[in-house]
Amino acid sequence: MSVLHGKNILLGVTGGIAAYKAAFLVRLLVKKGANVKVVMTDSAKEFVTPLTLATLSKNEVLSSFTDEKGEDSFKEPKWNNHVELALWADLFLIAPATANTLSKMANGASDNLLLACYLSAKCPVYYAPAMDLDMYQHPTTAETFKKLESFGNIQIPAAFGELASGLVGQGRMAEPEEIVSFLENDISSKLPLRGKKFLITAGPTYEAIDPVRFIGNHSSGKMGYAIAETAAELGAEVVLISGPSVLKLDNEFVKIIRVTSAEEMYHAAHEYFNKSDVAILSAAVADYRPSEMASEKIKKKTDELVLQLTKTKDILASLGEIKKDQFLVGFALETENEEENAKLKLKKKNLDLIVLNSLRDKGAGFKTDTNKITLITKDNKTLPFPVKPKKEVAKDILEYIIEQTNA
Ligand code: CTP
Repeated sequence: MSVLHGKNILLGVTGGIAAYKAAFLVRLLVKKGANVKVVMTDSAKEFVTPLTLATLSKNEVLSSFTDEKGEDSFKEPKWNNHVELALWADLFLIAPATANTLSKMANGASDNLLLACYLSAKCPVYYAPAMDLDMYQHPTTAETFKKLESFGNIQIPAAFGELASGLVGQGRMAEPEEIVSFLENDISSKLPLRGKKFLITAGPTYEAIDPVRFIGNHSSGKMGYAIAETAAELGAEVVLISGPSVLKLDNEFVKIIRVTSAEEMYHAAHEYFNKSDVAILSAAVADYRPSEMASEKIKKKTDELVLQLTKTKDILASLGEIKKDQFLVGFALETENEEENAKLKLKKKNLDLIVLNSLRDKGAGFKTDTNKITLITKDNKTLPFPVKPKKEVAKDILEYIIEQTNA
């Protein structure tokens, strides 16, 4: 999945011949799963119609401070709130960006909606210059670029080639495909977990009694899968060791290893732990397994059947024993003396962080889509969070880890 998926992209289109390519650009961005809104200058409308861009982006295209449609002359004109629009955006892309608009950006001019959005934007701003060869080479253009760079704006360099004037040189706007790849690469390279390797366990384990029966638990794996997916979205390379779960996760940065029993999970976790920077063990591992697995289905011959159970290996504790620089996170599900028990577990298993969820809380637990957690840190700090969707909970946990591991 592209890093642009789900991103709010404000596309600013200015008046150069390359504006016709904005239509392709909108289409590509929408295809990547981005939400696109377009603002354009009046002169851009000479090159591409607002209707084309509105149809492709599935959003109204704005170009002036007030609604210019004039459908109803009795109505007061609607004010197009540039601040709201700019704050909506996760990124602002100006393509094509003409010399005129770039120079106005560099000097704080605000005589159209696009420029007002630029001045109001708090998100990263990218621009793809498009101008003729001589304009591109003019010293004032170099100065403009320098100024915009000092504001933190990111240039998507113009390409070398034949220009609308017939001249050949640099100044042609990068192709829409190149612009999209540039955005993807730039965003990926800045993700906070880029280069980090994560090991995550999730779901229940099944401990076989005989070929058709097992001891298991109600864990769905939702929490662990949400952490795996979110970590990958934040740039991590994830190995997700999953006990039996119906969940699927389609992300090229998550490798799923499916296991059944605690013993299998133990071996898989040990195989990947040394290569990991962070390990988060959210699986609800069975604490006991039948001492013997019957080779044939057990027949109901007697009124009572006694199963002898043997303790499984504690995966989390075993990783705590061998850990070097890894940041190790455990989960605790407690029903009484919650914080005290969780703190003891954190110490005993040599963890850096423990995520406490209490079955007493409404909206917390195994099969729900929400969870309520308290993070307990190595230095005994307690950080409670309200009930949230599991994806949001995953973000809270990962944000704390990012803070700690980049410190
Ligand atoms: N865990 C594990 N391997 C086990 C049992 C538990 O890795 N065999 C991990 C879980 O993934 C979780 C943490 O240990 O991160 C806490 O598990 P929990 O069952 O709450 O605690 P236990 O240490 O098993 O203690 P108790 O059951 O007595 O509360």
